[in-house]
Formats: sequence, structure tokens, C-alpha cells
Amino acid sequence: MTTNLGDRPAALAQFPVDHIGIAVADLDAASEPYELIGLARVGADEAIASQHVRVRALQAGDSLVELLEPTAPDSPIAKFLEKRGAGLHHVALRVRDLRAEIIRLEALGARFINAEPRAGRAGTQVVFLHPKWTGGVLVELVEHS
Ligand code: CO
Repeated sequence: MTTNLGDRPAALAQFPVDHIGIAVADLDAASEPYELIGLARVGADEAIASQHVRVRALQAGDSLVELLEPTAPDSPIAKFLEKRGAGLHHVALRVRDLRAEIIRLEALGARFINAEPRAGRAGTQVVFLHPKWTGGVLVELVEHS
């Protein structure tokens, strides 16, 4: 797997785990154990306005661990932290063509939190499937441009 996903879109496999999202109260405190394990940071921390979070990505093989810190009280991550505390928030699966997947899955009865793609980290487009439809796990579909 290349890290430069933009060069070879046709060669990308469908549905590898792109990243796992972890809700945290504080990026620096939360990333310390992962960095002690040996995971390296990928790029700089990134603010994602549409989701009111700041993200720190850490490389774990071909996937990333993404730590998500809320930047506003109405952030979905702030609400998650209030209700459940820090911990695993979502699993993201990579797709080649997000719009095609949305249409395909809607026809199969999938339930989405947002069926209209939003901006994710590093220029990606993302949607979230409803955890009631995926057996209690929040699943994100992500397309790299
Ligand atoms: Co994500």
C-alpha cells in the first residue's frame, strides 16, 4: 500500500481500514502512549471545522489511529465524551467512489447519519453509517481525492 493514494486510485482495494477514530479530551495526553508504543505522527494536527474537532493522526501500518479532540461544546465528540468518556469512537473504511457507495447502500436499506459527504481529514470526503444499522459500531466511509 502506498501512502500517496492520489497516484493510483484504480489500484486501491475497496474497504481496507483507513483509520480508527478515538475520542479524547486532550490530544497531547492521549497521543503519548501511542507514541511510546512507536506510532509516528502523520502531518500536523488538523482542525476539521465541519465536525468541530482537532485531529492528530498516527501511522499504524497501512492504517491510521486518529485522535479526535473537540473544539466546541456542540461537537459530536464533546457529546460522546460526556456520555461515554474517552475511547473508541468509529472505524473508517476506505472506498474508491463514495457517492456510488452511498447510492448502492441506500438501495440496500443502509441508514446513514449523513448521506451527504462532508470534509474529513487530509482532503477526504466522508459519511457515517448509523450505528443502529451496523450493530452498535459507528462506521465511516472515506474517499481520498
Ligand atoms: Co474518521
